[in-house]
Amino acid sequence: MTKIAVIYYSATGTVHELATQIAAGAEAEGAEVRLRRVKELAPAEAIASNAGWQQHVEEVHPKVAEASIDDLEWADGIALGSPTRFGLPAAQLKQFIDQAGPLWGKGALASKAATPFTSASTTHGGHESTALAIANTFYHWGSIVVPLGYTSEAAAGTGTPYGISALTGPLSDETIAAAKAQGARLATIAAKLAA
Ligand SMILES: Cc1cc2nc3c(=O)[nH]c(=O)nc-3n(C[C@H](O)[C@H](O)[C@H](O)COP(=O)(O)O)c2cc1C
Repeated sequence: MTKIAVIYYSATGTVHELATQIAAGAEAEGAEVRLRRVKELAPAEAIASNAGWQQHVEEVHPKVAEASIDDLEWADGIALGSPTRFGLPAAQLKQFIDQAGPLWGKGALASKAATPFTSASTTHGGHESTALAIANTFYHWGSIVVPLGYTSEAAAGTGTPYGISALTGPLSDETIAAAKAQGARLATIAAKLAA
């Protein structure tokens, strides 16, 4: 069975929703999926200052296991997601990525399928730069970057070829369909690479 790790950071839930849909798409393709959130690093005062953030920590964190660097080694295919933070991925995801040095050093991430996803609060405020910044890591790992492209009707509808992205808040039906398509595509390509 193809193994897919969907690993993300989310403060207020939008990236979590995208991750859930990517995971569902990979599962529908027959993959075994680990949906994992990276460790929250923000101080409790910062979290408490934002009701949506606090609620996400209290209600969603207990339902999703924390990501371990072993999840990257386990997986045949990896999806990494983060909110856009000043046009870049959040530090929480970067901190997780920065623990992958030993895996990178032994070539354990080379030739795995890998795909990025993100969310932002504005239409032109950094979706693409964040997706591409996450993908920069995949190049260093020697992974095979899996873009969403315009590879399905759903993907073409959202017009996010680098990886699914969404505006803050509940996902549209079109975004859900494209996120599922990205998960399915990741699983399909990961299976071929692992074969
Ligand atoms: C410190 C910080 C920086 C942000 N920078 C951007 C940005 O550059 N562009 C943008 O459109 N939204 C920006 N946002 C908004 C988030 O990207 C957006 O709300 C995202 O949907 C949150 O995802 P989440 O609900 O998974 O946490 C920023 C938010 C924070 C807290």
